[in-house]
Amino acid sequence: MDSFLIKGGVPLHGEVTISGSKNAVLPLMAATLLTADTCVIRNVPDLSDVRFMGKILESLGAEVKFADGTVTIRAAKVKGFGDYEMIRKMRGSICILGPLLARLREASVSLPGGCVIGTRPIDLHLKGLKALGAKLDIANGYINAKTKRLVGTMLFLGGRAGPTVLGTANIMMAATLAEGVTVIESAACEPEVCDVANFLVSMGAKITGIGSPTLTITGVDRLHGTDYEVIPDRIEACTFLCAAAATKGEVLVHGARPEHFAAVLDKLREAGVKVEPKAGALLVKSTARIKPTDVTTLPYAGFPTDVQAQFMALMCRAPGISVITERIFESRFMHVAELARLGAEISIEGPSAIVKGGRPLSGAPVMASDLRASAALVIAGLAATGTTQVHRIYHLDRGYERMEEKLRKLGARIERVEGE
Ligand code: EPZ
Repeated sequence: MDSFLIKGGVPLHGEVTISGSKNAVLPLMAATLLTADTCVIRNVPDLSDVRFMGKILESLGAEVKFADGTVTIRAAKVKGFGDYEMIRKMRGSICILGPLLARLREASVSLPGGCVIGTRPIDLHLKGLKALGAKLDIANGYINAKTKRLVGTMLFLGGRAGPTVLGTANIMMAATLAEGVTVIESAACEPEVCDVANFLVSMGAKITGIGSPTLTITGVDRLHGTDYEVIPDRIEACTFLCAAAATKGEVLVHGARPEHFAAVLDKLREAGVKVEPKAGALLVKSTARIKPTDVTTLPYAGFPTDVQAQFMALMCRAPGISVITERIFESRFMHVAELARLGAEISIEGPSAIVKGGRPLSGAPVMASDLRASAALVIAGLAATGTTQVHRIYHLDRGYERMEEKLRKLGARIERVEGE
């Protein structure tokens, strides 16, 4: 397994361009199952999760071709069940269920695994599909779904932690080919969900309320192919903003859409980080002292849970107490123990992490555990004095395109050590 070797203490300087959004492109790829026509998706990041979704679609019978940031998919003939092992391994694959059910009226998909950040239930996905008229049977690790025809209805999709991102995408995709009108109340409003809705509309779907908690989908008989560009990855953008701030650098971030992460910009500014538009990009500068800042993760447009770990790494540099509360997942503090190995002082009280920031961080070997926790360890390693080795960075390769190359271009002393 590869690791990153980081010699920290160097302020990041220069320009970086943000790649396409992982959390948009995965459901978009699933949506291509809704038509037999060819779909072209552009600005696709070269990530292991994206390549994996391609393999899953191929196991269903689709033709998938990747070529310089574009993926061309033709699901002319697809079957309703794929490779159990592959589908089980990646949570994002649950969103093939809705499209398969809508197109073929039956599907068998393996139950997605949980992961280190929580049990990751899919009860809301199943509730929505049942409401549309699907008969569901769960046996031997599979969800077997069948329907004569999906029929539109009004359904409430909110859960104990608020809306579900992939659940909203799944039900919305199924509803595009259902008979009649479907209204999804407590729909997720994340930019990635809006991207899926806009993609579906470009395929001929009828959807209103995009970006609001109430989505109305009027079923059509068929959808056609499309040629579509994915939105930039707001989580990658925020990761680089936190890295520039934590190393007291100055970085020009190209290709991000600031309106997609206003809550993070607000908190960075509260922490004393300068972030302002410049020449169509975002200039982040942090020379003054970082101020301790409290954060609570919330559904969009609140502070995104996917930036919680990265912001915590930044708060380790803010002299004083910062309280970081995680309201979306039940156990998303895997990075805390590893940050402590770099000298961070963090205690966990229920859903909150109390960061006592300000003590200098010093390099040490650390272990990545999930995608965003790994990003937090890279940020802390860049800010620490001395050498940090981040092991198991396959977690990072799932969601960050050539991270070490982008960081090296910003002056970071970081290299990938093959196979540990
Ligand atoms: C998406 O996961 C993202 N993944 C996650 O990003 C992100 O953290 C999450 O949304 C929240 O923003 C992709 O888009 C591939 P949810 P998703 O359903 O859709 C509970 C990353 O780092 N819930 O919005 O699976 C759930 O347990 C990843 O890029 C139910 O209770 O998340 C959680 O507490 C990590 N029942 C909350 O809702 C359900 O049926 C939000 O989960 C579904 C979810």
